[in-house]
Amino acid sequence: MAVQMAPSILSADFARLADEAAAVAAVADWLHVDVMDYHFVPNLTIGLPVVEALHKHTGLPLDCHLMISEPDRWAAGYAEAGARNVTVHAEALQSPVRTLRLIRAAGARAGLAVNPASPVEPFEDLLPELDMLLLMTVEPGFGGQSFLDIVLPKLRRARAMVQRHGASVWLQVDGGVGEETIERCAEAGADVFVAGSAVYGADNPAAAVQALRRRAEQATARASWQR
Ligand code: DX5
Ligand code: ZN
Repeated sequence: MAVQMAPSILSADFARLADEAAAVAAVADWLHVDVMDYHFVPNLTIGLPVVEALHKHTGLPLDCHLMISEPDRWAAGYAEAGARNVTVHAEALQSPVRTLRLIRAAGARAGLAVNPASPVEPFEDLLPELDMLLLMTVEPGFGGQSFLDIVLPKLRRARAMVQRHGASVWLQVDGGVGEETIERCAEAGADVFVAGSAVYGADNPAAAVQALRRRAEQATARASWQR
């Protein structure tokens, strides 16, 4: 299972998004784009027009994390706008199966996110509809929050659930992931790592991505779920 790094532009300079994407283009696997609507979360960021524009200015695949209250209505539009992955929140979905299928039909990978207090077990039967499960390791809405260790047991259960089904679903962690916490995430079963402030708060964002990746790879190599 390969480690994948997804720097989050939430902590980047919003007036220079193309440059900020370019700063990590050679070392990142994805560019994580946090879409917030001021309803599902108490913060407002960017939407479809910015995703469309960014797609034209970076070669990195866009990983759109929709923290919005009507994902059923908007998700497929992000795939059509060029996102390679579109993740929708379980807490906001009315029709999960239909929306996940619409994302895939529009040509993107389909992700399902759960907040720290939401369980993953109810979605076991949905694994065939999913390409990625995102376990939030902070309450969604803001960058720079402290990592929630209470999510790690759920991450272990999610890894076991995926392995039980022989599914190729990726497990992403998002929130408070940095030098201090990324190894715990990898050991517990994550393979896709979002990092905002740990990357764009660093003097050299590309070097920060590489250092985080090394730590995650070493921790993955010694993880029990790998064997
Ligand atoms: C928070 C967002 C995250 C955010 C993480 O709701 O979903 O993607 O950018 O930021 P850090 O890595 O600073 O916790
Ligand atoms: Zn995010």
